[in-house]
Amino acid sequence: MKKRWLSLVSLLLVFSFIISGCSSSTSTKDKDDKKGAKLEIFSWWTGAGEEDGLKALIKLFKEKYPNVPVENAAVAGGAGTNAKAVLASRMQGNDPPATFQVHGGAELNAGWVAAGKMEPLNDLYDKEGWKDKFPQSLIDMVSKDGNIYSVPVNIHRGNVIWYSKKIFADNGLTPPKTFDEFFAVADKLKAKGITPLSLGDKEPWTATMLFEDILVGTIGTEKYNKLWSGDLPLNDPGVVEATKTFKKMLDYVNADHSSRNWQDASQMVGKGEAAMNVMGDWAKGYFVNDLKLKTNEDFGFITTPGTEGDFLVITDTFGLPKGVKNPDDVKKFLSVLGSVEGQDAFNPLKGSIPARIDADPGKYDEYGKQTIADFKDAKLAPSLAHGSAAPEGFLTKVNQAINIFVTQKDVDQFIDSLVAASSDLKK
Ligand code: GAL
Repeated sequence: MKKRWLSLVSLLLVFSFIISGCSSSTSTKDKDDKKGAKLEIFSWWTGAGEEDGLKALIKLFKEKYPNVPVENAAVAGGAGTNAKAVLASRMQGNDPPATFQVHGGAELNAGWVAAGKMEPLNDLYDKEGWKDKFPQSLIDMVSKDGNIYSVPVNIHRGNVIWYSKKIFADNGLTPPKTFDEFFAVADKLKAKGITPLSLGDKEPWTATMLFEDILVGTIGTEKYNKLWSGDLPLNDPGVVEATKTFKKMLDYVNADHSSRNWQDASQMVGKGEAAMNVMGDWAKGYFVNDLKLKTNEDFGFITTPGTEGDFLVITDTFGLPKGVKNPDDVKKFLSVLGSVEGQDAFNPLKGSIPARIDADPGKYDEYGKQTIADFKDAKLAPSLAHGSAAPEGFLTKVNQAINIFVTQKDVDQFIDSLVAASSDLKK
């Protein structure tokens, strides 16, 4: 009897050992699954002027979905200088983030969609009733072959001069609307020892942005857009003229431009160390949130010379990469990001305007209100510097050519480099 009893106990012990072994391996698996299921949001929005909007959006998402674990996986570096390389290697290694920041236009369509890496989101657009809530021009920028591949969170404007109210007032100057006015103002400022234009091209995209603004101001949006579709050659006389104007403008920038990033350059206007800075309106987020400056009091804004009525469009969008572990959670995030509430939490802090047409203008400052109104009738020019106008391979070569041009200032060499790069336009 005693023997039988003992063997029953040992049997039970073996059982419990097996069960505990099993359960311990189950709990490791659970952990792994949870880890894999984190909603990893990949962007380059870290630090000054960049992250406040994203944080507000994540906060809103967490309020709505407290059980979805979120990881803010941002990689620092303006315009995705570093993030894009990290993303490319992850995508290549079939390790996509749950969702990632991508510009509408070529960066999305000729890049990740063409490579077969994105899921279409037509169902989500139908479910959320979004098809008439975003401007058609924007839906076109995130669509390919009849499918929609991402959700725009914002519209940034790239053709803005931010200027120091104080410097302009103290010197009795009016913000310039044309190139002639720009150079007249710049000459007066230079004569007084004031830096007319701040530039921070430590990362060359900022100089590419300045160039594309000059390009639109010189040849207009229609011709500008034709350059990237291959319908206008890159050595068109208008491009040569714009390059000459660009060269002339470089005579008015701060000497230390190549050691500054965009924030360092915008800051010069904020602190009254330079009169003007050309930058996308994320600079406004930086002025207001980080430097605590007031729109239209401490700094003013005007479209870059010759671009009144034009809109250099930069739209940040998020999509659903193929092969992620948690597509339903990603869709939940996209539905918050695409909602009026989501857009109005993000954009007033980011400096951008909402992508949706039915967002609440009352949530935006004077700059935002005016930009929302301007966008409605503006002629649109998708940004080259931010990946919307042309494929990444072409943009990389333009950035290199710009970088060389800023130091060597050789117009012919620059035009030759553009022409040589144009075979990458079709890729
Ligand atoms: C752009 C992006 C903006 C802003 C900017 C500076 O490419 O669309 O949202 O982050 O870079 O980093």
